[in-house]
Amino acid sequence: METVKIGLLGLGNIGTGTYKTLEMNKVQITKATGLNLEISKILEKDTTRERDITVCQEQFTQDPDEIFKDPEIDIVIELLGGVEPATTFMLEAMKNKKSVVTANKAAVAANFQKLTDTAKANHVEFRYEASVGGGIPIINALTTVLQANEFVEVQGIVNGTTNYILTQMTEFGLKYEDVLKKSQELGFAESDPTADVEGIDVANKLSILISIMFNTYIAPKDIPTQGISNIKQQDIEAAKVEDSKIKLIAYAHKEGDKLEYSVKPMLLKNSHPLASVSNEFNAVYVTGNAVGELMFYGKGAGPLPTGSAVMGDVLEIAKKIYNK
Ligand code: HSE
Repeated sequence: METVKIGLLGLGNIGTGTYKTLEMNKVQITKATGLNLEISKILEKDTTRERDITVCQEQFTQDPDEIFKDPEIDIVIELLGGVEPATTFMLEAMKNKKSVVTANKAAVAANFQKLTDTAKANHVEFRYEASVGGGIPIINALTTVLQANEFVEVQGIVNGTTNYILTQMTEFGLKYEDVLKKSQELGFAESDPTADVEGIDVANKLSILISIMFNTYIAPKDIPTQGISNIKQQDIEAAKVEDSKIKLIAYAHKEGDKLEYSVKPMLLKNSHPLASVSNEFNAVYVTGNAVGELMFYGKGAGPLPTGSAVMGDVLEIAKKIYNK
């Protein structure tokens, strides 16, 4: 059986979840692909942290070129987070004829065209399913089974941290600061949770969705964005009186040539399908001109759901490379 060697950039929360997904489902993955997948090299500074996975010191490197220049490595997984050096590393990997998989919404949103163009120019794959909606297969759905549609609208709850905070404040009357701390402990929040609570993470994800659905690039900084840091318990109580919930919504709507978009907390009636999406769950509500309305739902954050999407992309690429 052929062995597919993978280079991993970053062994933080999501890197560990991805590694664990491969480790715990090795038998299933081998059955599904007819291939032996192996993360052979890992770029990571912290080589001593306790992790719930089996990793040897020899797998670690501090030099990204040891991965980019390794002729045995076919696929590079980028899970460093942040725009740089992640973008430069992904471009470098592609130029060295490695396919790239990432969960990094900030880097994909900031450099969507450059990354997709560089992959094409170097005849390699670039996949980023985990960058929007964690474990939910939204990117694949939009770009494959739904590609015959002209899209009209998207409304999404695409940040697990803020949805977790709003849910806990609504259901248990908990304080914003306490719930934010809990979501950091659970591994949902970004290392700097400002990106979550101020809506920046959602703007990154909406920018990616707009690129795919409407074939238009809107930089995250150009999306009118408001987060949830100003939401008080009294706003939550006022929503309850109106039989509604406050949700942080990524919104885009196209009519003719006009595209409207925003990220902001919205009041949703409890009867709205998105109102029942709670805690770290995400949902993306899409309208296409042929398919009508669809809702995608699942865990939008956390190491294993995100690891599931990352590995899904890796396996698709591995099967293509080895004609499986
Ligand atoms: N911080 C992000 C969230 C992680 O809370 O949804 C997943 O992108």
